[in-house]
Amino acid sequence: MKELSLHVLDLAENSIRAKAKLVTISITEDLNHNLLKILIEDNGNGMDEELLSVADDPFTTTRKTRNVGLGLSLLKAAALRAEGDFHITSEKGTGTKIEATFKHNHIDRAPIGNMGSTIATILIRKEKIDILYIHQVNGRQFIFSTKEIKKLLGEVSINTPEVILWIKDYINENVSELNK
Ligand SMILES: Nc1ncnc2c1ncn2[C@@H]1O[C@H](COP(=O)(O)OP(=O)(O)O)[C@@H](O)[C@H]1O
Ligand SMILES: [Mg+2]
Repeated sequence: MKELSLHVLDLAENSIRAKAKLVTISITEDLNHNLLKILIEDNGNGMDEELLSVADDPFTTTRKTRNVGLGLSLLKAAALRAEGDFHITSEKGTGTKIEATFKHNHIDRAPIGNMGSTIATILIRKEKIDILYIHQVNGRQFIFSTKEIKKLLGEVSINTPEVILWIKDYINENVSELNK
């Protein structure tokens, strides 16, 4: 995939399928240590040890509709290509945590891409889910929480086109501000 945000979208889809109520997406850029870290944590169904041990294999899927599952294996490959690391922690009934690291300036490290679009797309797909998005660049951080937005919106659904557009722009503006 050309952008890391598309991997995040794909993994969030796994969290939705695992019936997660909260997905925490954290992107940490530490230029002093030449490090980019993506963390996706959910409180969904989790995996048992047997599934966990093969989860990042391209032929592992628990879907009934096909027999390859590329989401985790593609992100792992992207991290390893950029001299990074990949790790999954999961517990049945508790949730799952995926951690991918990259050498920030590696020539094969894909750009982060459009996180505003990714988060908007997750919310269009499943408005009931809550997302906590934390993006750090050299210690400065931007936090976006759907729980807070939903409180402000009151009766208005987070899924209305105006709100979705606002969320997308709000996130992208704040992330680009972090990089100034
Ligand atoms: N967040 C998650 N919570 C629970 N199970 C997961 C999660 N992510 C992945 N899995 C399990 O790992 C399998 C492989 O995931 P993935 O590589 O994304 O392929 P796919 O989604 O196409 O099955 C999934 O089918 C699912 O059983
Ligand atoms: Mg998947």
